[in-house]
Amino acid sequence: MTTTSAPFAQRWAIIVGASSPVGMAIAVHLAQQYGMHVVLHYFRNRSAVVTTRRQIRQIAPTTRTLLMRADLTRVSGIERLGGRVLEHPDVTDIGCVAYLASWFSAIPWDRVQYADFQRAVHIHGWAPLRLIQYLEPLLRAPGRLMFFSDAGTRFGYPRYAAYTATKAILDHWTRLLARALSPRGVTVHAIAPYWIAHPRSTGPAETDQLRYGEPATLSTILQAVDLIMRSGGALTGQTIALESGRGLG
Ligand SMILES: NC(=O)c1ccc[n+]([C@@H]2O[C@H](COP(=O)([O-])OP(=O)(O)OC[C@H]3O[C@@H](n4cnc5c(N)ncnc54)[C@H](OP(=O)(O)O)[C@@H]3O)[C@@H](O)[C@H]2O)c1
Repeated sequence: MTTTSAPFAQRWAIIVGASSPVGMAIAVHLAQQYGMHVVLHYFRNRSAVVTTRRQIRQIAPTTRTLLMRADLTRVSGIERLGGRVLEHPDVTDIGCVAYLASWFSAIPWDRVQYADFQRAVHIHGWAPLRLIQYLEPLLRAPGRLMFFSDAGTRFGYPRYAAYTATKAILDHWTRLLARALSPRGVTVHAIAPYWIAHPRSTGPAETDQLRYGEPATLSTILQAVDLIMRSGGALTGQTIALESGRGLG
C-alpha cells in the first residue's frame, strides 16, 4: 500500500544507477513512501529496472516510471541522459535526484592509466555535476539531492586508486552544491558507506567482519534516505558516513 508524504507526492525522482541493488530499493521506497514518479536510469542491467518497474506498479499503480539507458563514462552519454530528462514532457517538477552510478575499478595506483582515470572522472565527477546543470530548471523546493560516495574517499584505497580519488569529487559537489542551491530550498547530501550487505555485494569474509565493523544494509540506507527526505533546509552539505567509525582512525 502507498502512503504519500505531501511535499514530494506526484513529483519526480531521478534515480541514476537505479539498476544497482541500492538504487532499486530507493526507487521502490520513494514511490511507495513518498508517492513519487521515478526515472530509472541503467547502463547494462535493463532487467533490474524492468523488475523495479513491475514492483512499483504492484504497490503504487498510479506511479509513472520512465526507463532511460546511458553510459556515463562517456560525455555523449551524459549529455543524452540530461537532455532526455529535461525535454521529457511529463517531467516538469523534480523533487529528488539520487546518484548511485559508479565504476568500481580494481586498478592499483601504480598501474592506473589516463583512460581509466578519465572514465572514473566522467562517471563520479563530471556526470553528477552536468546532470544537475541540466535538471536545475526543474528542481523545485523542497528538493533533495543525494550522491553515493564511499567511506574510502577520506584515506584512499591504493588498490582502487581511480575509484576513491574520483568518488571524493562527489563529497566536494555535496558541499559546493549545498551552498549554491540552499537559497532555492534544495538540500544536498552524500551517503558514504564502507560496505553494503546486499544480495550482489562481496564484503569481507565472515571471519573478518568484526574487524571491518557492521555493514550498511538496504534498511540502513533507506533510514538515511528518510533522514534526508524528511529534514528541512537546515540539514544540508553533509556526508553521512555509514562505516562503523572506521574513518575516525
Ligand atoms: N556495495 C558496497 O559495498 C558499496 C560501498 C561503498 C559505496 N558504495 C556505493 O553505493 C552505490 C550503490 O552500490 P551498489 O553496490 O548497489 O552499486 P553497484 O552494484 O556497483 O551498481 C553500480 C551502478 O552504476 C551503474 N553503472 C556502472 N557502469 C556504468 C556506466 N558506464 N554508465 C552508467 N551507469 C553505470 C550500474 O548500472 P548497470 O548495472 O545497469 O550497468 C549500476 O546501476 C554506488 O555508488 C557505490 O559506489 C557501495
